[in-house]
Amino acid sequence: MPAEDPTRAARARLDRLWSRGRAFLGTDLAVLGGAMTWVSERHLVAAISNGGAFGVIASGSMGPEQLDAEIRGTRALTDRPFGVNLITLHSRLDELIDVCADHRVGHVVLAGGLPSSASIRRIKERGAKVVCFAPAASIARKLVKSGADAIMIEGMEAGGHIGPVSTSVLAQEVLPVVSDVPVFVAGGIGRGEAILSYLEMGAAGVQLGTRFVCATESVAHPRYKQAFINAAARDAVPSVQIDPRFPVIPVRALTNEGTRRFQAFQAEVIERFNRGELSQKEAQLEIEHFWAGALRRAVIEGDVENGSLMAGQSVGMVTREQPASEILRELVEQAVRALEARSGAFGKPEWRGATIPGAAE
Ligand SMILES: Cc1cc2nc3c(=O)[nH]c(=O)nc-3n(C[C@H](O)[C@H](O)[C@H](O)COP(=O)(O)O)c2cc1C
Repeated sequence: MPAEDPTRAARARLDRLWSRGRAFLGTDLAVLGGAMTWVSERHLVAAISNGGAFGVIASGSMGPEQLDAEIRGTRALTDRPFGVNLITLHSRLDELIDVCADHRVGHVVLAGGLPSSASIRRIKERGAKVVCFAPAASIARKLVKSGADAIMIEGMEAGGHIGPVSTSVLAQEVLPVVSDVPVFVAGGIGRGEAILSYLEMGAAGVQLGTRFVCATESVAHPRYKQAFINAAARDAVPSVQIDPRFPVIPVRALTNEGTRRFQAFQAEVIERFNRGELSQKEAQLEIEHFWAGALRRAVIEGDVENGSLMAGQSVGMVTREQPASEILRELVEQAVRALEARSGAFGKPEWRGATIPGAAE
């Protein structure tokens, strides 16, 4: 009997490992291109889906009319499955849900705060599957009871709005105890070996954002892309809060003039509050307002000094602009090579029957 091609065997093993995620998404690869406001519009979303993964439209900056146009535009560029990310705090959430339903969008990802059972029900009644972010195992279980069809755990290595817990810890907490629905892992994933490790821990699939910002098809401004290419992991840091009385929502972004000014600005506002010139509420609002429109300024206008350069720690692994399909191919190759190397090592004669030091003690 001819020996089995090791690469093909490793790929088959990978396909088995992420089969639940593939079936859930309806894709070849159980990889979601995480929705990124201003970045994840029709071109990037379609390119990711055409590459065999699952693109997700970011509707954070859109009203119902814009979302309607974006879904149509995406459908014109791909006949593969893609989803829509809705922000639970959006003032027109129900209308956005209805737009998704009118277009028979198969998957809605609910982000930005815990979704209400009513929102989950509204989406499911109209036939779509709901993916919810869970920042802890207890919340994941609650969301499953409320009807979530899949859970996304996202660690603090991620770009954009983050929680306090790392991906590796969340994965260890959630993956062993949530099995009723598929669980996807996001945050800090830049290579196929990492994808493989989360799949082996029980993940159904993964979500990557930062790695796709410099896709050729991404509309991000060339200066935004260059900032990613130049950056190292340590440059992507969470926003700094200088006074616990005035909470700052943690956002991971590349340091620039804006992030430096933000600290001085908070100090100024707090000083005015201390002098009685502003109420606590007014001061809080001024601080929150600092970043209004800042992501658009960076992504679309290319103002990389004053805009918000949201990026995850995996930014250090972004080294050039390349097509989304090539990024996906590389990720799969890395996972397959890692599997192949392992089976190769264990198949080596010197490993067979070897004594493992300490194993007998
Ligand atoms: C520029 C940028 C914008 C983002 N915007 C959103 C968003 O609008 N909604 C959302 O759910 N997640 C958002 N994210 C998070 C991504 O969807 C994804 O979960 C995250 O990037 C995964 O971690 P990674 O950056 O380490 O790959 C954003 C991330 C980045 C880098």
